[in-house]
Amino acid sequence: MLSISVIAAFPELVEHALTFGVTGRAREQGLWRWQGFPLHDFATDARRSIDARPAAGGPGMVLMPAPLDAALEAARAWHGEKSQVVFMSPDGAPLTQSRAHEFACCEHLTFVAGRYEGIDQRWIDQNVDAIVSIGDYVLSGGELPAAVVIDACVRLLPGALGDDDSATFESFADGRLDWPQYAIAPSATGEGIPPELANGDHAAIEHWRRREALLRTWKRRPDLLINANLTLEERAMIDSASTLDNAVKNRLKS
Ligand code: ADE
Repeated sequence: MLSISVIAAFPELVEHALTFGVTGRAREQGLWRWQGFPLHDFATDARRSIDARPAAGGPGMVLMPAPLDAALEAARAWHGEKSQVVFMSPDGAPLTQSRAHEFACCEHLTFVAGRYEGIDQRWIDQNVDAIVSIGDYVLSGGELPAAVVIDACVRLLPGALGDDDSATFESFADGRLDWPQYAIAPSATGEGIPPELANGDHAAIEHWRRREALLRTWKRRPDLLINANLTLEERAMIDSASTLDNAVKNRLKS
């Protein structure tokens, strides 16, 4: 079972986000367990302070080492063994699907969510194993980013998704975006659904999906394909799509 602890000013924000759907069911199934460590509970003064002014001045406040130390010690006791400590920060390495797979292989993870201007650097240097960002923008705290990383990782745990294939055939699983999906409603006529999907020819359906996924990736996220090893067939799919920019096509590996 994957054990996840969260050290944060407001860990309940993380828990609430993960109560529903796949992550909530996976927790009920015993695939992962969770414990929050609210920083204010580990404050060392009567006012329960967790932050202080930055050294040498400047705007905002910085989370102090002492409550973080005490919270980490409590988290370690809960885990019963060493956990990987992941600090959520816009300064970190971007979260990717392969990073989510790596986290899903861990047994013990501790997420630390910053608030205010950040966390005392000495504490980061001593305790943090990885710094992760969920994108180039700044949120008011690391709780929601921690929930994002935990969601991305928990849904990859074996048995978390109803149909395990859904993690195989989805965006980023093979470095491409997903192909377009259409719902079959019992009363609907099927109008507007591409004809390739309607005739039961499995080879044609597979070909259509691969082509659509490739062209969608090319149109929306060409950066994902620049270093990909495209097959001759895939190269031809791109060449035959008239909407694509020739200058970008020429940057493809042949
Ligand atoms: N904390 C605030 N903004 C963040 C971001 N973009 N990623 C991770 N943690 C954050």
